[in-house]
Amino acid sequence: MCLGTIGKNSIRFTEQFFLFICFTVIITNVVVSAMKPQDFRTCAQTSFCRRNRAYADKAISNSFVSPYNVVKDTINIENGIISGELINTENKVSFVFQVHLLMNNIARIKINEKYPLKPRYDGVKYWSLIQEPVNTLEYTENPSTGKDGVTSLSFGVDRNRKVIIYHTPFHVELLVNDEPVIIFNNRGFFNFEHLRKKDDSVNQPEELIIQSEINTEKEIQTEEKKEERSEEGLWEETFNGKIDSKPNGPESIGLDISFPGFGHVYGIPEHASTLSLKETRGGDGTYNEPYRLYNLDVFEYDLDSPMALYGSIPFLLAHRKGVSAAILWLNAAETWIDIVKSKDDKSFLSFGKPTSTSTHTHWFSESGIIDVFAFLGPTTSDIFKQYGSLTGFTALPQSFAIGYHQCRWNYLSQGDVAEVDEGFDVNDIPYDVIWLDIEHTDDKKYFTWDKIKFSEPEKMQKNIGRKGRKMVAIVDPHVKRDDGYYIYKEAKDLDILTKDKDGKVYEGWCWPGNSVWIDWTNPKAQDWFSKKFAFIQYKGSTEFLFIWNDMNEPSVFNGPEITMPKDLLHYEGWEHRNLHNLFGMAFHSATSQGLINRTTPNHRPFVLSRSFFAGSQRFGAIWTGDNVANWDHLAASSPMLLTIGISGLPFSGADVGGFFGNPEPELLVRWYQTGAFQPFFRAHAHIDTKRREPWLFGDPYTSYIRDAIRQRYILLPFWYTIFQEASTNGMPIIRPMFVVFPDNEEIFAMEDQYFIGNSLLVKPITNQGQTTTEVYFAGNDLYYDYYTFKKVQGSGKVKVDITMNKIPVFLKGGSIIPRRQRFRRSSLAMYSDPFTLLVALNKKGEAAGTLYLDDGKTYEYQKGHYIHRNFNFTSGRFISTSFNKQVQDSENNYIKTNKDLRIERIIVLGVDRSPKNIIGYYNDLIDDKKELKFSLGGIDDIKGIVSASIGVSVEEISKDIIIIRDPKLLVKRDWTIEFVN
Ligand code: GLC
Repeated sequence: MCLGTIGKNSIRFTEQFFLFICFTVIITNVVVSAMKPQDFRTCAQTSFCRRNRAYADKAISNSFVSPYNVVKDTINIENGIISGELINTENKVSFVFQVHLLMNNIARIKINEKYPLKPRYDGVKYWSLIQEPVNTLEYTENPSTGKDGVTSLSFGVDRNRKVIIYHTPFHVELLVNDEPVIIFNNRGFFNFEHLRKKDDSVNQPEELIIQSEINTEKEIQTEEKKEERSEEGLWEETFNGKIDSKPNGPESIGLDISFPGFGHVYGIPEHASTLSLKETRGGDGTYNEPYRLYNLDVFEYDLDSPMALYGSIPFLLAHRKGVSAAILWLNAAETWIDIVKSKDDKSFLSFGKPTSTSTHTHWFSESGIIDVFAFLGPTTSDIFKQYGSLTGFTALPQSFAIGYHQCRWNYLSQGDVAEVDEGFDVNDIPYDVIWLDIEHTDDKKYFTWDKIKFSEPEKMQKNIGRKGRKMVAIVDPHVKRDDGYYIYKEAKDLDILTKDKDGKVYEGWCWPGNSVWIDWTNPKAQDWFSKKFAFIQYKGSTEFLFIWNDMNEPSVFNGPEITMPKDLLHYEGWEHRNLHNLFGMAFHSATSQGLINRTTPNHRPFVLSRSFFAGSQRFGAIWTGDNVANWDHLAASSPMLLTIGISGLPFSGADVGGFFGNPEPELLVRWYQTGAFQPFFRAHAHIDTKRREPWLFGDPYTSYIRDAIRQRYILLPFWYTIFQEASTNGMPIIRPMFVVFPDNEEIFAMEDQYFIGNSLLVKPITNQGQTTTEVYFAGNDLYYDYYTFKKVQGSGKVKVDITMNKIPVFLKGGSIIPRRQRFRRSSLAMYSDPFTLLVALNKKGEAAGTLYLDDGKTYEYQKGHYIHRNFNFTSGRFISTSFNKQVQDSENNYIKTNKDLRIERIIVLGVDRSPKNIIGYYNDLIDDKKELKFSLGGIDDIKGIVSASIGVSVEEISKDIIIIRDPKLLVKRDWTIEFVN
């Protein structure tokens, strides 16, 4: 066995001992085989999934009536909460429900058993929500409560949101401007498996099991069928020989949620699927499996699949012309979501759009309670803000984090690190961060260094830091079980390790061999771990070192589905089953807090995580895991990142180049060109791949890659400004077409082009040898080629020629984009560089934009120490004013230390005649007007900017541009530039 190679998913428990001996020998020679679907459960192999699907099938039969009714006279309305009791009329089990009317046009529905045998898990809110949401008191005072079996209430400042609760059977409608947008239990799939005793034979959902087994018989392979039959899946379940003892028996919850009149729904990452989600109950172009949310280590994953991946955000957004609505299903247990669409749904005819499509979703989780938030828009930007007001907005990163990152598994020694670092300088390629994967440690003991290969870690980091660059080291959540390892010993002594079902410390296999897992849900563990990053504790670390959290789904090589058994026990005795999907986020949270704590004053952390959940945006960036160096995976990165971005987690990226395999140079170039326009920009490669630092390919490829990375650096002020926006209002950083053009139905499913902010339209090239592409220019807007500044002729779908040196990027008329056009070796080296403002006029000759700047490192900005400019060009006047009303300029530390920051150039696109002159002045010195130097399409000026327009010659640049040279205007001040005709 040691002579061959192993995949991480091929490690089996029975082989542990043998593997332990040979593990370290072969670890550097791992060849990970392709994802094996048989390692992961299907719905048919998951008893609660089968039961809930079978329940749904029963419910859509004509004779079915949902057995859940509101109990008469139980409705009470107080302080923004409508509460009441439900009864399941079949088994007489009682439930309590609450509909909370919250601030900002959000509603929340909670349902739990009235008398559960023991408490059901309700802890997700502590991890995902930033605070207990505040109820609104803005609602009608005399609601109807129960007359005609209906309770209804209008709420919101304008009272234009409405909730209607139908009592028999129980279902709830939410309306915006009198149109229903979300309906709960519309199809009667609501199914709450109450906790029961195993010997309570009358109360087992047997009938459905039998029915579902018949339904799925063909899908189940004979072996598995036998396993399932013998156990029925209620009180014990077996998969691939691994037993899940289910001490609570069946405890799933299910609910259907319809979006009437909505033909498109988005979100519920992470899947390698389409942006507009597919139907899941079979038929042409649809899936047969529901979308699954269960954080798993599915390396080299299949594309176009609803299979679960590394992260889960149970947030789904529905959009149609005129209105958007969304929900957050606040549950961290394994969850599946079925989606079907209907045309001419008769139940919605009253709402007046007989030919519209409606989308019906069906959610079911293995345990917990029903706790669903409904975001009632009405626009997508309202929803992003509403969602962020609950789960937090993305943390503003340090500015280096949005530069380029160079990673591979592994940079082998400090000498290797120095050489790669040098390679960037020699080849004139900027970069910000070099990464160290697991091999940098002493025997996969995180927080330690390989004594020979990384004998001087501090010196190494300082050498990198001196150039304004940073390093990242990996810290995984598994802990080598080794009494000599201080992390293991301390965690064991503190009794913060995850336990097995019998209360013994759980042991499993991961990179270090035999490992244990800290229970990140234990507050003591959070507190202890966040101190481990103090410089005196993490020996060899410096302020130049940041962290990468990997394998935190968690990945357990010999666990069921390569993860933790569900019956493990966490803090306060909660089973892993209840909180699996938030476990990785809890680790991310502790790590990120550790980095904040290690300096005084605090610096912003940078922690990349593979696993994520609702709320992860507060702790750092994520990436899409172990992708493959092929064209399809490059193409898949756009819908995946767009989906993650609209689900509240905008700081995300995909391994540039593809993790597995060796990309041919053309693919690598195209991947860099795409990655440069995605929020997190990191090249990474598997240990078995050939080295692929950008200069190893030679010209023209190296030049293309250099150009792509430089293009990222030119635009860093723009990126940083959009990150700041995301951190205050939840807008995604890269935006799907439907977010920018919410009324254009033609592009609701478009996923192969997108916007950065609202200004830059990007079309990745994802086919080999491609020479043309189609770009869709939406709206009645002007667009300019980002590189030549020429106006795009035509609208809608336009054929565009492409070359190898760049991908198509366009500026939407009406935008103003800040750039820094001097090439340096890192973002820090550009810290004091002057700005070029790119003003792309729209058809009315107007444009607007912003620029946000701060120290890029600390939290001083929260006290007002930043510059935030509002740029406006209208009627030939370009005005810069400040958004910062928090502190006076004279008290603003950022301004004090950056007082000379200036605008060195303004380029105005879309001007075909020259003004007589252009004058500029500070708004408080109106008598001191200066004539500015400028030219209309002047060759010398164009020569001055062409280096920033990658790969285009002077001749190709539009002559319809005005270039104002060195207007001598300081960024910090309010100024005006006037075009005088
Ligand atoms: C996992 C990660 C990958 C990393 C490797 C070794 O496969 O997804 O990025 O390089 O582990 O740590």
